[in-house]
Amino acid sequence: MRDLTPDRSTLDPIEIASRDEIAALQLKRLKWSLAHAYENVPHYKAAFDEAGIHPDDLTDLSDLAKFPFTTKADLRDNYPFGMFAVPREKVNRIHASSGTTGKPTVVGYTKNDIDMWAEVVARSLRASGTKSGDIVHVAYGYGLFTGGLGAHYGAEKLGCTVVPISGGMTNRQVTLIEDFQPTTILVTPSYMLNILDEYHKRGIDPRSCSLEVGIFGAEPWTDAMRKQIEDAFDIHAVDIYGLSEVIGPGVANECVETKDGLHIWEDHFYPEIIDPETGEVLPDGEEGELVFTSLTKEAFPIVRYRTRDLTRLLPGTARSMRRMEKVTGRSDDMIILRGVNVFPTQIEEQLLAVEGLAPHFQIELTNDGRMDSMAVQAEIARADSSEDERDALGHALRSRIKNVIGISCAVRVSDMGSVARSEGKAARIVDRREKD
Ligand code: DLL
Repeated sequence: MRDLTPDRSTLDPIEIASRDEIAALQLKRLKWSLAHAYENVPHYKAAFDEAGIHPDDLTDLSDLAKFPFTTKADLRDNYPFGMFAVPREKVNRIHASSGTTGKPTVVGYTKNDIDMWAEVVARSLRASGTKSGDIVHVAYGYGLFTGGLGAHYGAEKLGCTVVPISGGMTNRQVTLIEDFQPTTILVTPSYMLNILDEYHKRGIDPRSCSLEVGIFGAEPWTDAMRKQIEDAFDIHAVDIYGLSEVIGPGVANECVETKDGLHIWEDHFYPEIIDPETGEVLPDGEEGELVFTSLTKEAFPIVRYRTRDLTRLLPGTARSMRRMEKVTGRSDDMIILRGVNVFPTQIEEQLLAVEGLAPHFQIELTNDGRMDSMAVQAEIARADSSEDERDALGHALRSRIKNVIGISCAVRVSDMGSVARSEGKAARIVDRREKD
């Protein structure tokens, strides 16, 4: 792997400004953002009034804790355009969440919002080691999902040659990587594994491909997966985080020189960590739910949005802005099995520690009588395998899960290619429990 550390002279000055400078900018912008939301979005006016708080009451960043949270339910209640703070004619672009449960969440961007988004994605790419002039293969989905277009505009802003292939048609992904010779790929880590399978199927050594860095996000993934992908392709694997309600990809990104968590672009998105039960703000370093307030967004200002993502805030390293630790998981994805909390990322870590298993898996939850049960569906990494080999691997994984995580579950290891694949975000949990 080549050293891709960006030249410090190419960074935005605010990325390496002092903490005091960053805080002063945040305070100024936060005052503007709260007033903008209060004056232009009926929901925020009503919510602030009900909490007995006014944007003028904010004189210090810590005063933000007095403002009410915003949840996905608030966005749904104002479907489709009720949270917009500018006349609809000023909204340049709409994105929306998939809405697997109920109505989708709709978000809007003014021209300035699109520019700011492109800037933070360009900054993320640069932090990942991508440079102006590089060829960038974007395999995040294009469309209402923010991944494809978000990555695209950022890569263009940085001055790259963008290949907007979107997700799917894995065969063609490999053909275009081989033909166009991109140095950067943006894709979900789980879909990168499908691309890896395709390389193997074609008998091409993935380590010989032109890629130098992969910028992976949109779903939780572990350091064990980082190692798996880095070794398989001989590339740097860095983490990109974001969510549509806050902007899309590019809220935070890892720096390729440290790979020690994601620097939050705090000049545009103000982070807090709260206790998910009490809503109390926790000090940096403690794990809890990540909450964001936008500082500069025009069309869709967001105040104290509860992301449901669990992580910790850490001090800056390669940049002055604070880092968030790799997301452990979403509180919605936490499995509680006979009193023990488990996240799919913990299963991923154990699975990748068993030599001979492929990196694909799914977790099935069932309810037999009054007890919940979990079964991990995994697959063997070799084409020709015997039942004994598969059983031995299943036993090894089951023991690791029991000894390290502390839960008993069934493990089924089947043939190569048997675990369902996704073209975007992997569906890790299949919930077959009967709902009362
Ligand atoms: O997934 C935006 C995105 C696109 C981020 C491409 C990175 C790359 P949503 O569809 O709104 O937006 O989903 C947001 O995905 O709250 C997290 O639960 C999860 N997520 C996103 N990035 C990461 C990451 C996009 N790096 C939700 N690690 C978020 C863990 C992530 N989870």
